[in-house]
Amino acid sequence: MTLPFPPEHVAQRLLAWYVQQGRDLPWRHTRDSYSIWLSEIMLQQTTVAAAIPYYQRFLERFPTIADLAAAPLDSVIQAWAGLGYYSRARNLHKAAHMVMTEFSGQLPQSLEGLMALPGIGRSTAGAIMALAHNRPAPILDGNVRRVLVRLFAWREDPRSRQADKHLWFWAEELTSREDPHNYTQAIMDLGATVCTPRDPKCKNCPLAELCQALAFGVVQQLPMKRTKAPLPVRREVALLVNTKNSFLVRQRPAEGFLGGLWEFPVGLQGDQAESSPTVETLLTNLGLQGRLSQVGSLLHVYSHFKLDLSVWFVAVEGKTDIEHNHFRWFSVEELSNLPLHGAHRKALELVLQDPDNSQAFQVKH
Ligand code: ADE
Ligand code: SF4
Repeated sequence: MTLPFPPEHVAQRLLAWYVQQGRDLPWRHTRDSYSIWLSEIMLQQTTVAAAIPYYQRFLERFPTIADLAAAPLDSVIQAWAGLGYYSRARNLHKAAHMVMTEFSGQLPQSLEGLMALPGIGRSTAGAIMALAHNRPAPILDGNVRRVLVRLFAWREDPRSRQADKHLWFWAEELTSREDPHNYTQAIMDLGATVCTPRDPKCKNCPLAELCQALAFGVVQQLPMKRTKAPLPVRREVALLVNTKNSFLVRQRPAEGFLGGLWEFPVGLQGDQAESSPTVETLLTNLGLQGRLSQVGSLLHVYSHFKLDLSVWFVAVEGKTDIEHNHFRWFSVEELSNLPLHGAHRKALELVLQDPDNSQAFQVKH
């Protein structure tokens, strides 16, 4: 992997910018690894503004790792209340115990040692190494990912393994060997205040001259949006079973999908025609006989699947009493006042508009 510019140019520009434009945040006044660890955990899923008061109160209540480890979990959760993602608090507490019992009360000072603790991943470990110990360890949190995706114009899925490999490589290459502490804070700040998710302020960006996304004019397109997985397709047949002016319908159970709505008898169609019940079988299962004709099919899109509905008209011959007492006959007029579910409303329209069927029942318009 080659770099489009000498990597040290990034740190030079960022560090100069940080002196002028860096934010003054409470955890930047300490090199205490416990405080920095706490701030990093809070900032994983919480904004800086929301985290600040919690950070200060938490440290007043649990000033050291020993205090945290000795405290009951309930009191730790209580101090976390309002921040959300409580597994963070549980992991902190558990990790504090491990530090007391396995690391003689000292937070490990290596990347691997830190990553052995619950709740600390590679990026958080890197941040603690850089911020508390001034060691050149790369970080790759959400903000840094976005900066690097743009700086190197990564035009593919930013969440893939391939992206991870490249982004970690770049993060490592760019991290200042001379001043990792300030470099790390600087790149975090750049992501938070300049290279923001929407409307990045490239005019004020210290990396503008190096930025590949800016050079190629693709800043607005990056990072690439998540491409939605195509919705699964569910194939069903609906039988619009008709006698005189009435159709057979039933009410769906009150609980669950489309709860309480009315529908025509349906059958699920698999991909293998052999394993799916035939339309004739569906009719026989209802205890009815009749002439079947396919009217058409329609596609109805729900939030989590697409329904491909094959619509059949059935002119009942012979008896019309139904053994399944949850089915009922309703006239077209009655159906118009019944909450039919959307796809079946469309199916009814198809049948009513079908010229072959228009004689079969008298529709009053
Ligand atoms: N986000 C994650 N870590 C941070 C830090 N130390 N300062 C500001 N924002 C952050
Ligand atoms: Fe981000 Fe714009 Fe700076 Fe590139 S020039 S790093 S897109 S703010």
